[in-house]
Amino acid sequence: MTTTTLLHLDSGTGLADSVSRALTARFATAWRAHHGAAGTHLHRDLVADPVPALGTGYATLGRRVERQGVVPLRDVAALADGPHEQHEWHLTRPLIDQLLTADTVLLGVPMYNLTVPATLKAWIDRITFPGAYTDPATGQSLLHRTRVVVAAARGGGYEPGTPREAFDFQIPYLRAYFTTLGVPAERLHIVAAELTRADDVPALNDLKPLAARSLTDARTTLDELATS
Ligand SMILES: Cc1cc2nc3c(=O)[nH]c(=O)nc-3n(C[C@H](O)[C@H](O)[C@H](O)COP(=O)(O)O)c2cc1C
Repeated sequence: MTTTTLLHLDSGTGLADSVSRALTARFATAWRAHHGAAGTHLHRDLVADPVPALGTGYATLGRRVERQGVVPLRDVAALADGPHEQHEWHLTRPLIDQLLTADTVLLGVPMYNLTVPATLKAWIDRITFPGAYTDPATGQSLLHRTRVVVAAARGGGYEPGTPREAFDFQIPYLRAYFTTLGVPAERLHIVAAELTRADDVPALNDLKPLAARSLTDARTTLDELATS
């Protein structure tokens, strides 16, 4: 039996009507049904269970490692100098291992102040340790087979051709980040539910039909991705 692992992270506050969480839960349910006993679903709520912000020891250890070129992960602990660096590595290594184990990474990502929530940024900052995703033997990215699925939600509209397109620092950021890490563009799927506040914000009320269509489209795309 070929096994497969889904790493599922939610990063929004967790309001009962969270759109991003509803979308990731829908994906995870369909994914589990599709893979059955072969699938392992790992879920972390980055609000209830936050990733600690980086300490100085993370940066000093990272610099020391960088100076040596690409250091295999198993050798990093031996380079940690003192309890602060050891502690930072102790916080970091399991998250890197978890990402490297995942076949599919599922992220629930609201737009907060034009970009991703700080909860997700804390995870990103911690897992992006120098050289962690480079195969020391080949120089190839260790994430070249990883599939990343982002379920994004934003209160306004930022689609190409709309007035606020240039204010979107959420989806372009995530696209740039994961491709820089070595996730192939064709394995990076970013699905957005737009205009999620159209019901609440009077200035957006006229856009309710667009919001409903955006949500339906997001669900359809995620359903397809969950079973493909
Ligand atoms: C702190 C905060 C900041 C937000 N900033 C923006 C923003 O800059 N642009 C926007 O379109 N919506 C913004 N929103 C609205 C959210 O993107 C929208 O409600 C989205 O659906 C939240 O995701 P969720 O439904 O999964 O909780 C913000 C919401 C919060 C709570």
